[in-house]
Amino acid sequence: MKIGIVTGGGDCPGLNAVIRAVAKTANSRGWETIGIIGGYDGLLPPQNYRVLDYKALDGLLVRGGTILGTANRGRFSAKTGHGETRQLPKELLDETKRGMEMLGITALVSVGGDGSLTIAQQMHEAGIPIVGVPKTIDNDLAATTVTFGFDSAVACATDALDRLHTTAESHNRVIVLEVMGRYAGWIALYAGVGGGADVILIPEIPFRYESVCEAINEREKRGKHFTLVIAAEGARLAGGDFVVAGGQQQNREARLGGIGAVVAAEIEKRTGKETRSMVLGHLQRGGSPTFMDRVLCTLFGARPSS
Ligand code: F6P
Repeated sequence: MKIGIVTGGGDCPGLNAVIRAVAKTANSRGWETIGIIGGYDGLLPPQNYRVLDYKALDGLLVRGGTILGTANRGRFSAKTGHGETRQLPKELLDETKRGMEMLGITALVSVGGDGSLTIAQQMHEAGIPIVGVPKTIDNDLAATTVTFGFDSAVACATDALDRLHTTAESHNRVIVLEVMGRYAGWIALYAGVGGGADVILIPEIPFRYESVCEAINEREKRGKHFTLVIAAEGARLAGGDFVVAGGQQQNREARLGGIGAVVAAEIEKRTGKETRSMVLGHLQRGGSPTFMDRVLCTLFGARPSS
């Protein structure tokens, strides 16, 4: 038996730990695992892959990123705009089947988020044997309680809030921290609660400046001359649009970003308080997974033999 494993979409802490877990389990059953390089495109001729033997798995539990590389562009793209689903052409799915036959793999493990698992679903519907492993810092996958990468991203965002807390307090400032999460507020909510943010803005609850400024002014009255605001990148004003960074590219999802700066400017204007903003960005996706994520990733490879 030979299986393939592929990592798709944005990277996140724990991808390598899943690769290790899957390949180790396959190995214990006497199966060979090959890693597809550069996302699903690596399945198509000229194919790009590497053998994941026992030696290739050294150190992967703690290593950030993905040794297989990943892509959220290329021929495989099932999400566009603000998360609209796009059907992959039949010819591409047929080419994928042929590619898998040429590689001699009987099944594929796809480690991915919303976009990559939508592709996996379409492959499954086209008759390709495929198993999905839910990955994403955003924790926004349907039918999934928690995705790996989320805990590590929240740890990073909480640490950032802790650091901003002392500087905001020292300068009597308002500081707005913008975090990732696409259209879900999980990272902002968990880091906000864990890091003691005074205002938490999430996409699920559109906000009004009146209530944000009221919270800041109320703190001021009670002798707290600083405020920490955490804003999910998908947070938006009631009745307003998402704030996006850069133009829309064909067959790609919109890039959210910039809400933190917009909110900071408006707070300064309305309250007269000195306000700063920072975008945490890809720091949330880098580095080693937390122990929670390492355990979760290991479990994803651990389905016992029946
Ligand atoms: O889905 C993970 C994520 O990090 C989102 O939180 C963010 O909106 C997006 O990917 C950023 O993607 P890119 O790295 O392509 O800019």
